[in-house]
Amino acid sequence: MTTWHDKAAEVKADGRAFIGGERVWAKSEQQFENLSPIDGRKLGMVARCDSVDVDIAVAAARAAFEDGRWARKSPAQRKRVLVKFADLMQKHGQELALLETLDMGKPIKYSQSVDVNSAANCIRWYGEAIDKIYDEIAPTAANSLALITREAVGVVAAIVPWNYPMLMAAWKIGPALAAGNSVVLKPSEKSPLTALRLAEIALEAGVPPGVFNVLPGFGHEAGAALALHMDVDCIGFTGSTRIGKQIMQMAGQSNLKRAWTELGGKSANIVCADCPDLDAAVEASIGSIYFNQGESCNAPSRLFVEESIKDRFLEKALALVPNFAPGDPLDDNTVMGAIVDATQLKTVMGYIEAGHADGARLLAGGKQARTETGGYYVEPTIFDQVNSGMTIAREEIFGPVLSVLSFTDVQDAVKQANATPYGLHAAVWTADLSKAIQTSRALRAGTVHVNQYDGDDITVPFGGYKQSGNGRDKSLHAFDKYTELKTTWIQVG
Ligand code: NAI
Ligand code: MG
Repeated sequence: MTTWHDKAAEVKADGRAFIGGERVWAKSEQQFENLSPIDGRKLGMVARCDSVDVDIAVAAARAAFEDGRWARKSPAQRKRVLVKFADLMQKHGQELALLETLDMGKPIKYSQSVDVNSAANCIRWYGEAIDKIYDEIAPTAANSLALITREAVGVVAAIVPWNYPMLMAAWKIGPALAAGNSVVLKPSEKSPLTALRLAEIALEAGVPPGVFNVLPGFGHEAGAALALHMDVDCIGFTGSTRIGKQIMQMAGQSNLKRAWTELGGKSANIVCADCPDLDAAVEASIGSIYFNQGESCNAPSRLFVEESIKDRFLEKALALVPNFAPGDPLDDNTVMGAIVDATQLKTVMGYIEAGHADGARLLAGGKQARTETGGYYVEPTIFDQVNSGMTIAREEIFGPVLSVLSFTDVQDAVKQANATPYGLHAAVWTADLSKAIQTSRALRAGTVHVNQYDGDDITVPFGGYKQSGNGRDKSLHAFDKYTELKTTWIQVG
């Protein structure tokens, strides 16, 4: 039987950029090494694109936009191409999943079932939506006709992170391409491989050359050049709050390009004593913090449990923790893989040290694992007796570390839940309908879960309040980011 390791030995990790429909190295000929977090193996070299390559890619995207080779195709024509793009992603699903796992360390099982499937579904959904959306006519006086139409914004830059490389790319390029824009995508330097492969697949599906370009490179080089570019009309960013602020500054400092940001989180998960199903609450709380090695912007990293049920909750939680022991990401049974790179590993271990230093009580994990592999793994970790002032309760860790706090009064829990610069997700578990609604209204977050944490569908918006960003990915609302509204007044009679 061929294993994923056998297949990995065959896979081609082409790190060249994709500009104007062709694979090219950076003009400077600079490259950087791409190492796998699974075991430190070298996957290949990647083009280190900089402002020169950005100028070339933006010019290609602009030319494609202006001549209408994509923008002026009918929505039904764009739909057909995007649906084919999604089909081809699924046809190449094993290869894409393998590239994702090798590049950033997530379990192969989820690269297939979550990343490939959700990314393809996203492209297909926006393709299918675009020929079903009508424009508007305003209710003006009889001597005029006022049309309100949506137009593609032009050249869209997408800058995406490494935790869901393909899916975050799909959340940007799906609505942007469907609306008729040209796109320049910059994947994270930690995970460039699937984005580059997607560009080839898009071309095969019929997305014309120049419409979808991918530039690998570093944030302060290729990323900043895109954010500062005078001919980029819009930027869709997912990443840290620190860089999100810089993106908005660079937009203001250059051409006031529309800047949309999906940033960090420190999501609060409030479990009340009257929770209808404690086992379900425990499973969701533990499963969601450890999913994707804890490298999720919406991970429920602050768990608030009502004092009277805390011991029972933690006993059940501790019984589940061993199921999340890190394993070989290329093994079908693994549910927790490798941390993306040495830098992120150091960040996570630093937060674990901070937990100890601040006096939190370690209940599980706390150490590196599988060090003999040469890869980067962290045990599923729980700290109890955390309070809101501690570093591990305030800062985004982006690793498999859960901070447990307790409460006796749900209003106080909400106050603490909201005492953060972030506002991405939150959850409340209670059988009391009024309490559920009042609490969800009071939580300052873009998404609030009631008696679940895994609600997820392309039909619902995703994004944050406060410093978790602005604008929304997913759903029809995402079109607001990648289109301009035009009013046309017509004199009648
Ligand atoms: P980051 O924010 O530095 O990187 C995200 C993207 O922005 C990457 O493509 C990067 O190359 C680009 N970038 C970096 N500096 C830039 C600049 N000056 N101009 C333009 N683009 C730039 O995130 P990083 O370093 O990869 O992770 C650091 C922390 O950020 C994590 O520990 C985590 O807390 C948070 N993070 C949050 C994510 C989310 O989904 N909300 C995703 C990834 C990271
Ligand atoms: Mg990598």
